[in-house]
Amino acid sequence: MKLLTRSPEETQALGEALGKAGQPGDLFLLWGELGAGKTCLVQGIARGLGVQDSVRSPTFVIVTHHPGRLMLYHIDLYRLDNPLEVLDLGLDEYLEAGGVCAVEWADKAMPLFPREHLVVELRHVGEQERQIQLTARGERYVAILAQVRRQMGLE
Ligand SMILES: Nc1ncnc2c1ncn2[C@@H]1O[C@H](COP(=O)(O)OP(=O)(O)OP(=O)(O)O)[C@@H](O)[C@H]1O
Ligand SMILES: [Mg+2]
Repeated sequence: MKLLTRSPEETQALGEALGKAGQPGDLFLLWGELGAGKTCLVQGIARGLGVQDSVRSPTFVIVTHHPGRLMLYHIDLYRLDNPLEVLDLGLDEYLEAGGVCAVEWADKAMPLFPREHLVVELRHVGEQERQIQLTARGERYVAILAQVRRQMGLE
């Protein structure tokens, strides 16, 4: 699934649809350069999960959690020095506990994540335009994308 957003609000709307479709144990891996809109998308995911508190780019903390319909774990690997540190994050526990994990800069450690996940790749195509490509790896994510498409009126 590929779409173009023309404002931060449109990117958040996509995130919101993802958050609404989110199931316990979902793993969303976000790729994209600085300022691509990863945090913006996570803010939408939080809204879709009914999270009340605000989501920003964590400065030093790698993981922040936000209670909502499900617990949202917002993980930012920007400051990760060694990809192997991903193994110490406790990701499996978060997923097994029924949380939803959204990981910025996931491209830094792809081989270390569970095989099934959703990849969200964001690309600058203009000052306000972002091309966003979502790739489901695993059946449950195929179902989630179908729901996102319905929610966004794309089918
Ligand atoms: N279509 C769009 N979608 C998302 N953000 C947009 C869009 N157009 C402009 N922006 C702006 O781009 C910036 C995206 O910032 P954001 O913090 O979400 O990026 P990021 O990918 O998380 O960056 P970082 O790598 O620093 O964490 C914001 O200032 C936002 O207002
Ligand atoms: Mg960010």
